[in-house]
Amino acid sequence: MKKIVISFLLLSSFIWAQNFQVGKNGAVASASKQASDVGIEVLKNGGNAVDAAIAVGFALAVVYPPAGNIGGGGFMLICSPEGEVTAIDFREKASRSARRDMYLDESGNPVDGWSTEGALAVGVPGSVAGYEYALQHYGSMKWNELLAPAIKLAEDGFPVSYYIHEGLRDHQKLMRRFPASVEMFYQNDSVPDIGDTLRFSDLAVTLKRIAKQGAGEFYRGRTAKRLVKAVRDNGGIIDLWDLQHYEVKERKPIRFTYRGYDIFSMPLPSSGGICLAQILKVVEQFPLAEYGFQALQSIRIITEAERRAYANRAHYLGDPDFISVPVDYLLSDELIRAMAKSIDLTKATPSCEVDHAPLPKSEETTHFSVVDKDGWAVAVTTTLNSAYGSGFVAGKTGILLNNEMDDFSIKTGMPNMYGLVGAEANAIQPQKRMLSSMTPTIVCRNDSLMWVLGTPGGGTIITTVVQVLINMIDYNMTLVQAVDAPRFHHQWLPDVIFAEKYSFSPDLIDLLQAKGYTIRKRSSIGDVNAIAVDRDNKYYIAVPDKRRQSAASVY
Ligand code: DON
Repeated sequence: MKKIVISFLLLSSFIWAQNFQVGKNGAVASASKQASDVGIEVLKNGGNAVDAAIAVGFALAVVYPPAGNIGGGGFMLICSPEGEVTAIDFREKASRSARRDMYLDESGNPVDGWSTEGALAVGVPGSVAGYEYALQHYGSMKWNELLAPAIKLAEDGFPVSYYIHEGLRDHQKLMRRFPASVEMFYQNDSVPDIGDTLRFSDLAVTLKRIAKQGAGEFYRGRTAKRLVKAVRDNGGIIDLWDLQHYEVKERKPIRFTYRGYDIFSMPLPSSGGICLAQILKVVEQFPLAEYGFQALQSIRIITEAERRAYANRAHYLGDPDFISVPVDYLLSDELIRAMAKSIDLTKATPSCEVDHAPLPKSEETTHFSVVDKDGWAVAVTTTLNSAYGSGFVAGKTGILLNNEMDDFSIKTGMPNMYGLVGAEANAIQPQKRMLSSMTPTIVCRNDSLMWVLGTPGGGTIITTVVQVLINMIDYNMTLVQAVDAPRFHHQWLPDVIFAEKYSFSPDLIDLLQAKGYTIRKRSSIGDVNAIAVDRDNKYYIAVPDKRRQSAASVY
């Protein structure tokens, strides 16, 4: 009997994940069905897309613990009905006590786990401040109304999905090091089974306090003090000063055109927008539609563009409040042309022969999408970094904290957990934001909203967004087909094309190898949550990726 119940549950979550949804008045695509439903309720109650996004963000902090968070940070892109786009940066920051060599041993070598596990890996969280800022500037509802659904989910509990069950099983070793993490996620001291109800009573208390007192509770109140004590008792360095001085930044998005489409994406400290622009602008110089989807030449051109953009990322990109980044130059026609011209049309350029672009002599970083009936569109990518972040729950706060410090370049040329390398520009400095790859993106054409999209996936975020856009713009796919299509990824170093299993045919692999490419098969890439506006501007088509457990709701 139990077997039958489990397979029914598995089947039903599979069906959710497969379903795109079409609505007239609003749409939400997120990593969890419960969270998407929360967003739709807010829209039905008169909230706008920003209100709904905030409520979805808090709900994900409960029902999607691998990445949904209040112990992490993220980025929000907001597009008004008039087409004005702004970017809200609530990325984590290094503590004022952070030191450039804090993850190295006496011989200058990185110590395994220091930047990725437990309290020392935690960056100062930005999510709660980010949501409050977004509400104050662009929302319309009351703060406590937006936290209420998350509080209810934390108190009443929610059914454990296949994906959460598997994740909690896989992350046991790390999380069992921390008693509060065990208490929160392994109630009865065992991995919760599929369909079990998971309740987070400590988190519910914290969320209630935040609902009542505002973000100040998280940054200056009892929650702040408890969080800091738990972190410091466990070898972390974040202090009250760090929380009190956390600041949200509103920034100008990266804007560019690709084959007549206006694309808006996240500026620094995410590398997402700059790399997306560089890759697409290089690719624009080649007739991809003529080559065809998954044609050898298409894959080669996209790979070579990615390789070159990631070489630039590693050298130039970091927190713009700390270093000067030649953004205009990196997006200039002159550099894009030079990058395109350096592509050998007959064979691979080995990464060791691709350096970052030289500076011209004169001069010197879990996604959900929401739209509403008035045309507001919001793209939010938030993260704890790796799944379940540092694995560390800050004592009785019920807050699972990030391990975002690993997104810094902890030593020049040393790959982080995504194999990404960096240099001086992204070195650790007190109070600095670590470089991100998160790429919340909004696309318009002739001043009309077309698509809202983004994805998780570490270094593969940028190239996933690249492929979904190319699939639609160059290969004329629908959003459903574009999100479904197999993915590949190149990030300069290591010099390999990572391809999803079952994506490249054996013949294609032979052809690519003959041209000098090394192919490495890997598990699925990304988890896109996107929304399209239909061609008559009448319907919203919400498309969750089928790769994890994402789900859409509409009305
Ligand atoms: O900011 C970044 O680029 C990373 N911390 C994102 C991590 C991520 O996407 C993990 N998801 N699978």
